[in-house]
Amino acid sequence: MAGNRTFTMIKPDAVRAGHIGAILEKINAAGFKIVAMKMEHLSPEKAGEFYAVHRERPFYQELVEFMSSGPIVAAVLEKENAVEDFRKLIGATNPAEAAPGTIRALFAKSIGENAIHGADSDENAEREIAFHFSKLEQFSY
Ligand code: RTP
Ligand code: MG
Repeated sequence: MAGNRTFTMIKPDAVRAGHIGAILEKINAAGFKIVAMKMEHLSPEKAGEFYAVHRERPFYQELVEFMSSGPIVAAVLEKENAVEDFRKLIGATNPAEAAPGTIRALFAKSIGENAIHGADSDENAEREIAFHFSKLEQFSY
């Protein structure tokens, strides 16, 4: 199913604000099938490794602290053209620039605390899925 899967995390701000259910509703309504899901409190080490591509960026330390500040909900989603369609559903990184109706426009507070993560390529989706889920935790139904 390469190309038809993406990886997401509902970030600690949205979990704390009680938005898990509303966000999953939007994900389902947009036609994504949840094939793996778990709640997890990332350690700073694991959050840092996940976002290692941003290690040299000025916001890296803040990002690692935020992503390890409380539990996240990680999930694997299936749909045709999953990566691109999911990025459209979540909207721009900065919620002030996110299109109306997108998950970030609805639930994100700021560019740093922006409610949800979406993989940005098929290659990264597969890497991120493997980072969080074993094969046995991914389902077909
Ligand atoms: P994500 O990886 O979480 O889906 O977000 P993204 O692709 O839309 O944005 P990316 O450039 O990958 O940045 C990763 C996360 O870092 C935080 N960030 N803070 N303070 C800042 O200027 C800033 N810029 C980025 C955000 O949490 C962003 O989602
Ligand atoms: Mg990104």
